[in-house]
Amino acid sequence: MREIKLADDIFWVGVNDRTTDLFEGLWPIESTGISYNSYAIKDKKNVLIDLAKAFKTDDFLNQIAGIFPPAEIDYIVLNHMEPDHTGVIRTLRMLAPKAEILCSPKAVPMLADYYGITGGIRQVNDGDTLDIGTRKLSFHHIPFVHWPETMVTYDPKTKVLFSCDAFGGYGALQGTLFDDECINIDYYEKESLRYYANIVAKFATPVQKAIKKLEGLEVGCIAPSHGLVWRKSPSRIIELYAKWAEYGTSGGEKGVTLLYGSMYGNTEAMMNAVAEGIAAGGITPEIFDVARTHTSYMLPALLANRGVVVGAPTYEASLFPYMTTILEKAALKNIRNKKAVYFGSYGWSKGALKKTLEMTQPLGWEFLENLEFAGAADDDTIARGYDLGRRIAEAVR
Ligand SMILES: Cc1cc2nc3c(=O)[nH]c(=O)nc-3n(C[C@H](O)[C@H](O)[C@H](O)COP(=O)(O)O)c2cc1C
Ligand SMILES: [Fe+2]
Ligand SMILES: [Fe+2]
Repeated sequence: MREIKLADDIFWVGVNDRTTDLFEGLWPIESTGISYNSYAIKDKKNVLIDLAKAFKTDDFLNQIAGIFPPAEIDYIVLNHMEPDHTGVIRTLRMLAPKAEILCSPKAVPMLADYYGITGGIRQVNDGDTLDIGTRKLSFHHIPFVHWPETMVTYDPKTKVLFSCDAFGGYGALQGTLFDDECINIDYYEKESLRYYANIVAKFATPVQKAIKKLEGLEVGCIAPSHGLVWRKSPSRIIELYAKWAEYGTSGGEKGVTLLYGSMYGNTEAMMNAVAEGIAAGGITPEIFDVARTHTSYMLPALLANRGVVVGAPTYEASLFPYMTTILEKAALKNIRNKKAVYFGSYGWSKGALKKTLEMTQPLGWEFLENLEFAGAADDDTIARGYDLGRRIAEAVR
């Protein structure tokens, strides 16, 4: 096996997962995969940083065996307890009985709860260091990026920051680990935004705090636990994460996400008029059929675009169910401070607009104008839909 070296004595020993269809049992990754990046440091002591998901145990053990025999591991650093980075720990422990586990105090009860592991653990407080021979690794707590116990590990000798979920992204590695060797960075940036919107967005404030805190370290390379290692432009992925976290308060950038659903085509016909109005206002809307698109793909657009159009009919005195689903996810992921408009068809009672406003009011979405219409829209109503599109485009410009 070819060794993949990050720096002096530091090796990538991760695995690619192209089998899991839903990350966290929820987010589709069947066409992208994901990597569980793990790192081995071979100094006077042998150290492993972050592990892999349990079903990849065999692959993972083969990876580390290429660097040092498992029995000779001195320290296992668990930056984060989520099973995508710890699943192999029980097996690994049997093969590495003398290895001490290093984790934050909040991870200690979790090790017992998830794996029944109660001994051989060293808690590390924020700022603690570990002398492994020619360098002293330091540990920095970054709570809620992604879980309360999460921390990062820093090597001052090589300036590598092992950042775990922070600065990670979807996308199994396509034959290269490093940003400077990757010729489709755009793909990873896009998949990192999707990962951020799906997994991290809820924790925008902790992300901002973590970035501020890590400014105190001289970082020459970002080695996250998912996706590319950023050794040429570590600042690139930090800046992207900072920008995405900022969207939570700024409401995002110039752009419109047009979400629509329709049972019999009346709302869809209006959607086309609204889209024309938006385009005439100088913006190409990102259009999603909410019934046919997984929320995973709509959340990045919702996060990034300041404008939102909700187009959905009334369904059983409430909102078309798949629209309810994406608005619920937006609330869960704390997608706030949007400029919005609503349109939709109803039969007799209405209800969709009321539900839309109820759901989005706590998120600070400001609805500029709304258009409810009975059955099929006539020409005058279609013209009002076009104007609605112009209105939202103007509002986000
Ligand atoms: C299953 C179902 C439930 C509905 N429930 C309501 C309702 O509670 N109140 C109402 O005003 N219209 C209700 N409607 C009527 C639709 O809102 C109406 O037909 C609308 O024109 C559908 O828009 P679309 O063509 O974009 O699907 C319902 C329609 C269906 C098929
Ligand atoms: Fe995580
Ligand atoms: Fe993770």
